[in-house]
This record gives sequence, C-alpha cells and structure tokens, in this order.
Amino acid sequence: MPHGWPGVIEHYAQWLPVSDATPRITLLEGNTPLIPSETLAGRLGEGVRLYFKYEGVNPTCSFKDRGMTMAVSKAAEEGAACTICASTGNTSAAAAAYSARAGIESVVLIPDGYVALGKLAQALAYGARTIAIDGDFDDCLTLVRAISDSYPVALVNSLNPYRLQGQKTAAFEVCDRLGRAPEYHALPVGNAGNITAYWMGYCEYHEAGVIESLPAMLGFQAAGACPIVRGEVCEKPETVATAIRIGNPARWQEASAALRESGGRIEAVTDDEILEAYRELSSEEGIFCEPASAASWAGLKLLAAEGFFDGVECTVVATLTGHGLKDPDMAVKMALEPEKAPNELGAVVEMLGLG
Ligand code: F0G
Repeated sequence: MPHGWPGVIEHYAQWLPVSDATPRITLLEGNTPLIPSETLAGRLGEGVRLYFKYEGVNPTCSFKDRGMTMAVSKAAEEGAACTICASTGNTSAAAAAYSARAGIESVVLIPDGYVALGKLAQALAYGARTIAIDGDFDDCLTLVRAISDSYPVALVNSLNPYRLQGQKTAAFEVCDRLGRAPEYHALPVGNAGNITAYWMGYCEYHEAGVIESLPAMLGFQAAGACPIVRGEVCEKPETVATAIRIGNPARWQEASAALRESGGRIEAVTDDEILEAYRELSSEEGIFCEPASAASWAGLKLLAAEGFFDGVECTVVATLTGHGLKDPDMAVKMALEPEKAPNELGAVVEMLGLG
C-alpha cells in the first residue's frame, strides 16, 4: 500500500464482484482496528483472548460503509440516478454519504422518532431526501422494496447482494490481522445482514485455504426485538438499542444457516444488560460504541455466566458496529450531570480533594 489504505474495494478487489470498469466510490472505509481487550476479557474466562473489531471509526462511523461502498459503486456502474433505503439510522447515513460522493440522489425512509440523533444529523447533512414514516423499520423496508420494484431507484438495503459482499471484508480483516480465524465471533443482529456477510467472508477465506478453521458465529438480539431467537416475527419490536429494533429480519434464513453451519448460537439480551455492557465498554475499556453494538459484549457475558468459556482456550472477536457519538442522547442520559464550580482555582482544588 504505497499510498496508504485504498478502501475495501481496491484492497480486496480479487474477492469482490468488481472489474476495472466499476467506479470506486470510496471514502477509504475499512482497515478498522482490532483492539485487544485489556480489562473485560478476564470476565469471560482465564483462557479467553478477546478482541473488539471497532467499526465505529469508519467514515460514517459504522460498519455500513463497507457494504455501501460496494452497493453505490455498482449502482453508479449501472447508471442509477437515485438510491433508496429503509434504515434505523446507520444504513441511511452511509447511503446518503456514498450517494453524495457519487453524485447520485438518495432517499431514506426512517421510523419516525426512533432514529438516534447523530444518525439523523448525518442523513440530513449529506443531503439525502429524508422521510420519517409513521411506522417501524419493517414498514419502511416494505415501502422501499415496493418502490424499487416499480420505479428506477436502486435499493441499497442489505437485500442488495453487493452490500453483503462489501461487509464480508470485515471478516477478511480479522483473519489478516490475527493470521487465523478466531474460535468465536460475536455480533449484534438486527436485519441479519452483517452476521450473514461475516460468515460468507470466513467461508471464502477457508475455501481458498487462507485460514484453516472457521469460527462459531454468536448472534445477539435485543430481548424486545428477537424474532430469530423466538422463531417468530416480532410484531411490536421495542428496545433502547434502536439500531436493532427490527421484528422481521430480511436475512433471517441466511443468518439461521450461518448459525447452524458454524455451530453457533443466537441469544437475546435485555435492555438493562445492553446498557450495562455499553457503560462497561466505554468506562472500563475506553471504547465508546452505540447501544446496539454493546449487545456483542452483553451476549458474551451471558454465555460466560452459563460456563460457556470455562476451561476453554480460545480467541473471541466481538464486533462493535457503530460509534457511541451516533446516539448522544443515550450517552448523556446514562451519565451523571457534570459538576459545577466557580471559575476559581481554590474552589476546584478543594472540590477535587487536593487542597
Ligand atoms: N449494529 C448497528 C449499529 C446497526 O446499525 C445495525 C443495523 C446492526 C448492528 C445490525 O446489523 O442489520 O446487519 O443485523 N442497522 C441497520 C440500519 C438495520 O438501518 O442502519 P444487521
């Protein structure tokens, strides 16, 4: 990489359905850090090496940029004039950014009142036509599917196969960094595209002989929005983790196959467990992610509590899907009020107990 990281399409071109004719609509996404856990790993078990794949440092601050660079590049190659997506916030931020970069219009449908402030700000700032629907994510997805079926707009939700192609590069990066696959890979699950994409990436590296073993995929849904765990559509999804407030995941079947084939597990974590995990990641590990992302860590703790990692030597990777600043309201709500002091040295010193 003589000129630095070129973005996921250019770096992994041989693994992706692109040709020289495909424009690279990129913001140099990917190449995100795999951060070793210093503090929290010990809580899983003595033999556990834990890493966080921190996707919050992508250009729009979530993992969605990996899929969106592919989806928008292919839309541009095919001459699309407009993209459309339904979103709980992150997909819309990425769609808006990459469409702007490509000079393509974008339309995003979001559930009114259930998109975190930072994500809404992004869609608006990048200039997407942003429409808040009186319904939830699943309703928004039904609408954009119908619109893209009948009108000349490119659907860039993860139903679009290019999205998964781009997102699988995160699994490649994990293997490239570790020199092997981990034993376990933990992810929050919403529309179930990302867990499907990771599994695809691991399988492709395995078939090509780049890695010798495959991880077991561990998926975690919010207890109020856990259709895959329950095995039935959730009619009224509810969770503080608005990113994964989804009742009928589009990639349900593929995610189920990934879980089955990898010998993995899917479990539900409560909002309290998600928020506790969210606080621990930022205040004890120094990694600020959004609430939905913390479902990865919450879920690992749940498994540890049932003895899952007891006496096991293993490497675990947990993807932290989005940055904490995506949801500033939650961050402030979870914290104590800032203390107040006069603009006076003595008063501050005394307050800190240093005087
Ligand atoms: N974490 C975050 C921060 C997300 O934004 C999402 C999905 C997920 C996890 C779950 O990933 O859907 O592939 O299973 N967000 C979508 C959106 C639905 O519209 O931004 P998934």
